[in-house]
Amino acid sequence: MILVTGGAGFIGANFVLDWLNFSDEAVLNVDKLTYAGNLRTLQSLQNDERHVFVRADICDQASLSTLLAEHRPRAILHFAAESHVDRSIHGPADFVQTNVVGTFTLLEAARQYWNTLDAAGKAAFRFLHVSTDEVFGSLSETDSQFSEATPYAPNSPYSATKAGSDHLVRAYHHTYGLPVLTTNCSNNYGPYQFPEKLIPLMISNALAGKPLPVYGDGKNVRDWLYVGDHCSAIREVLARGMLGETYNIGGWNEKKNIDVVHTLCDQLNRLRPKEQGSYHDQITYVTDRPGHDRRYAIDARKLERELGWKPTETFETGIARTVQWYLDNQPWVDEIISGDYRKWVETNYTQRA
Ligand code: NAD
Ligand code: TYD
Repeated sequence: MILVTGGAGFIGANFVLDWLNFSDEAVLNVDKLTYAGNLRTLQSLQNDERHVFVRADICDQASLSTLLAEHRPRAILHFAAESHVDRSIHGPADFVQTNVVGTFTLLEAARQYWNTLDAAGKAAFRFLHVSTDEVFGSLSETDSQFSEATPYAPNSPYSATKAGSDHLVRAYHHTYGLPVLTTNCSNNYGPYQFPEKLIPLMISNALAGKPLPVYGDGKNVRDWLYVGDHCSAIREVLARGMLGETYNIGGWNEKKNIDVVHTLCDQLNRLRPKEQGSYHDQITYVTDRPGHDRRYAIDARKLERELGWKPTETFETGIARTVQWYLDNQPWVDEIISGDYRKWVETNYTQRA
């Protein structure tokens, strides 16, 4: 079996669902169920014995060691993290704890377990660390895209803690020989994304008749990748990646935020027209995010050259699927938009002019 951390979050859950669509190899899903973890996403696996869910914190080494000894996975895929930049600005402590201390704790548990394996088990074992392009910092309009050789220059508490975790993973390979792989991916979008991130936030605000809050001048650029393509890239890297290597994963889809928001409004105007006016009328420019990185862009040619991976969705097809998914799955979103989520909206948006 494989062990997935953070498999109740957006990308981890998509990965688990896709994995079990493509393979009968069981998944041990270890997740703390923070605000971002949602077991509803995994409802279709409720009676599927290939999926074992355990609520645990990756900072709890005793639990991790027990789980590893009991289930003896052949690989660990590490998705669990605090993942939202705006939350990292309001409260960085959780990011240091989970992203740095948690990754360290998981590496320690993995190393001890790996040392108990025989030679063949050791050689076959993999620790795949899921990271972000944000560790490379910010590009200007004319800079070339991030490659695997771009120096790290993280700017937010989120990206700094992810960078720290990447360095620890690298060190465990060089120092202890742990068979690691690291992926650095651009912005994901698709089904089951928590509505604090740009695309699902804009869709759910639009449908609720609320303002669509665009930070700053709206010209910050992100590269967007459909989550299913991220999952397929991770499967490739797990199967055939070179130990100790890092792989950039991107969608070749650089877009300005304001253009993304206009595209979403166009889709909604077509699929769920308002009684009066257009969703574009709800667009509102608000105070920028402190330290807002201007541009992220990924050169994903290494992954294509070495492992033959390319994304299958274009931005247009991926966005159309995503908007349709949110329209068809309003109860999933409605359950989140209550309680704690409201507090977050107050914290992040009420003080923005
Ligand atoms: P998410 O916030 O949606 O989900 C994170 C999951 O981790 C949640 O289920 C949460 O309960 C769990 N978790 C948090 N702290 C934990 C802890 N201490 N112990 C166990 N579980 C814990 O995040 P996501 O968007 O799915 O991102 C997954 C991974 O991919 C992260 O490592 C992130 O840095 C990386 N990544 C995300 C993006 C993106 O666009 N979302 C892009 C590139 C890389
Ligand atoms: P986000 O989804 O938070 O991802 P990240 O900061 O990790 O790239 O934001 C994507 C972009 O959208 C980023 O440039 C910030 C911007 N943004 C807004 O303009 N308004 C919003 O309400 C949010 C959440 C993000």
